[in-house]
Amino acid sequence: MTLVVKSGGPGALAEWQAHFAEFAPRLEVRGWDDPDLDPEDVRHALVWEPEPGRLVSFSNLRLIISSGAGVDHILRDPYLPPHVPIVRMGGVSTIAHMADFVRLGVFSLLRDMKRIITNQQDRHWEEFGVPRSSVETRVGVMGLGTLGLPAAMALRDCGFPTIGWSRRRRTLPGVRCYEGPDEFAEFLSRTDILVNLLPETEATRGIINAETLALLPVGAAVLNAGRGSHVVLDALVAALDSGHLSGAFLDVFSPEPLPKDHPVWAHPRVIVSTHIAAIPSRRDRARFTADAIAAFERGETPPNLFDPAAGY
Ligand code: NDP
Ligand code: OXD
Repeated sequence: MTLVVKSGGPGALAEWQAHFAEFAPRLEVRGWDDPDLDPEDVRHALVWEPEPGRLVSFSNLRLIISSGAGVDHILRDPYLPPHVPIVRMGGVSTIAHMADFVRLGVFSLLRDMKRIITNQQDRHWEEFGVPRSSVETRVGVMGLGTLGLPAAMALRDCGFPTIGWSRRRRTLPGVRCYEGPDEFAEFLSRTDILVNLLPETEATRGIINAETLALLPVGAAVLNAGRGSHVVLDALVAALDSGHLSGAFLDVFSPEPLPKDHPVWAHPRVIVSTHIAAIPSRRDRARFTADAIAAFERGETPPNLFDPAAGY
């Protein structure tokens, strides 16, 4: 059985092959650009940003595994074979990395890390306090899925009064959960630091915009680790400049890379990171992929299966 890999570029292939030799020794692992690859041999594909039209050329393809947790980079292929199931990257490592990043982001916004770093760069000695401690800061997590739910639990365990919002009602001890469009405004009005971990879908694109930002309390902050397309960046910058928002920590952008001349790089109240919130090692991703393929080949439902009806 052949697995074709497009993730990390041609230089990463030997490493992928070594990891798959450990976790799935019977898989033949080939590079995406291998000139000797017979497309008919390919049964599984592990991909990040596959070029449109390539996946459909593998006529015996049975399973697509996204090398990241989001699948928007695959769905934008207009020729994507609709009958081939897609598995989203997951596993304990991805979940733990994201929970770590969300804690980092929320504490950075709470303690104004941007000002700390700027003062250091400027050699400027400034004693400044912050308005709230963790136990006085309400954090609202948008998206309570594979990554959002553990992130909300991690924040709750750090002492933040934590609430969450998702499409269907979730139950989480110690976390008040809101659901759907009808409860979105109330969720936002009770959120001092907004954490976005939604997937990109038609319903979620542009969801953080002038109107929804205005529903956050004055002085609120935003951490976006979902997708750049969720945020109307001009509206976010306007809310920062007007003083309605106190800060933002942005890990994802549309497009990526964020253009070098984009003003948000230099905004005094924005921390920019470069889509690094949850990057599990290749070894962890190979293990997750090998397990997903094995489950699929046994006729079981693999974990983290993309639901085309829901769009995520
Ligand atoms: P899941 O599919 O497991 O969870 C998605 C969550 O969003 C669910 O709780 C779902 O609700 C909720 N949701 C979806 N649509 C809506 C909607 N219209 N209104 C309200 N809630 C909605 O995704 P993951 O947790 O695995 O990943 C989330 C996203 O995180 C990825 O799609 C990706 O964009 C991003 N990501 C970013 C990374 C980075 O490095 N910055 C790394 C990995 C992922 P319900 O519970 O009802 O289904
Ligand atoms: C993603 C990822 O989907 O990096 O953003 O896993």
